[in-house]
Amino acid sequence: MNKIRLSLLMLLSYFSANAQNTVKINAAGTGNSEVKISKHIYGHFAEHLGACIYGGFYVGEDSKIPNTNGVRNDVVAALKTLKVPNLRWPGGCFADTYHWKDGIGPKDKRPSMVNTWWGGVTENNSFGTHDFLNMCELIGTEPYLAGNIGSGSVQELADWVQYVNFDGESPMSKLRRQNGRDKPWKVKFWGIGNEAWGCGGNMTADYYANEYRKYATFVSDWTNTGALFRIASGANSADYNWTETLMKNIPGNMLSGVALHHYSVIDWNKKGPSTDFNEQQYFTTMQRALQMEELVTKHSAIMDKYDPQKKIALVVDEWGGWYEVEPGTNPGFLYQQNTMRDAMIAGVTLNIFNNHSDRVRMANLAQAINVLQAVILTKDEKMVLTPTYHVMEMYNVHQDATLLPVEVKSKDYVVNNQKLPAVSASASRDAKGLTHISLVNIDSKNAQEISLDLPGTKSGGVTGRILASSKLQDFNSFENPKKIQPAAFKDAKLNAGKLTVKVPPFSVVVLEVK
Ligand code: AHR
Repeated sequence: MNKIRLSLLMLLSYFSANAQNTVKINAAGTGNSEVKISKHIYGHFAEHLGACIYGGFYVGEDSKIPNTNGVRNDVVAALKTLKVPNLRWPGGCFADTYHWKDGIGPKDKRPSMVNTWWGGVTENNSFGTHDFLNMCELIGTEPYLAGNIGSGSVQELADWVQYVNFDGESPMSKLRRQNGRDKPWKVKFWGIGNEAWGCGGNMTADYYANEYRKYATFVSDWTNTGALFRIASGANSADYNWTETLMKNIPGNMLSGVALHHYSVIDWNKKGPSTDFNEQQYFTTMQRALQMEELVTKHSAIMDKYDPQKKIALVVDEWGGWYEVEPGTNPGFLYQQNTMRDAMIAGVTLNIFNNHSDRVRMANLAQAINVLQAVILTKDEKMVLTPTYHVMEMYNVHQDATLLPVEVKSKDYVVNNQKLPAVSASASRDAKGLTHISLVNIDSKNAQEISLDLPGTKSGGVTGRILASSKLQDFNSFENPKKIQPAAFKDAKLNAGKLTVKVPPFSVVVLEVK
């Protein structure tokens, strides 16, 4: 074979390998052991950090901003529409400095503290346990409390459990009743510390495993029957030794979930701006986001060794994009805008979680309001829903639906000779028998034509919604809050179990097939 023919053949095979995007959906689901996409994958996170709580969720009873017991009505309505399944509080790093008893009782008698992690501001504790748990009832979400094991005590955490969960007569339930709440809130999700390897106490994995066992013994209903869902502070991104050590040293009946934190950050010393980013910065952010696939695969494989029946959940209770703060804002408040890049992070990450929902059964985007990859931004009485909000709202059709595994073959998105798969997908079937498929095209320049194979699906028609914009750097501002919004998607054609879809550059599409 001469050289020219060989090169031609190589070129041809390159193009045929890259010629088409295909998504094969297994309509039979995962077979006998059907997997449900837990709604808790769509959880959020509210820390006492910057304007997340004060100004974000809570403005106080005397505010001119319409509120219910101090909680903004616009925020409650938006989060109800989002179908927030759980909300993590009070941190983050803040959690391991928080003493819950300072946040109960008459507000004018509550002691202040300094928020040492986040801007060194004075925290007056006006938003405390009752405020948070009543707010969760208002939103219709399950609370996830993060306990203080860094600077607290076993007794303090055990008292918190008794205060919020005990129905009978006890010192703590008596105190709760004195503070105006008769029935317990019955909080199920409990975090035993946060980032114990860092701001939660700089512990080694071995040391933390022992601390976990001690604290978890008292974060219980004293039967160890698993009524409370206890979550161990987990690994920082690819720290696989952390997961291995916890799984090896903590008895399975004491552990409901192991956490994992992973942020899509370009470089911790040079995070880049949130809106004024270039193509390479976008590419690197997407690389970090897509790394989640490898992380959940490898952490899950370690968990499989010790827990082959997958009883213990992998809980990704902090994830999202992290950039430089907006110019002129307090660096300790982590306030950043939210563009179509963030919509891409949300789309691909949620697809990864859906596809790994046999093990990933809970996750929390960091954070809900005014901090990092927020779904809501507020400025006095104004409120903006970010592109990330819209992606999470479009994807909420997957909550508690049956996972339909997908096989994706994607063209490459290439920048400076580096490549990533352009297309990401996940699919599920809901209780009404509707199939939902979420598709993301991260390519900043090229639309992707995708051919989807849906064997076994009744072809009763397809509808869809799309989130797109003309520039990757576009965002919803207080001046133009509805610039980016979901719209009807018409570019899908269904024919005898085959679907052809054209997904524009940097857009998210969610299809519904009857
Ligand atoms: O989400 C912001 C911070 O990031 C959290 O407080 C901490 O847990 C993590 O390092």
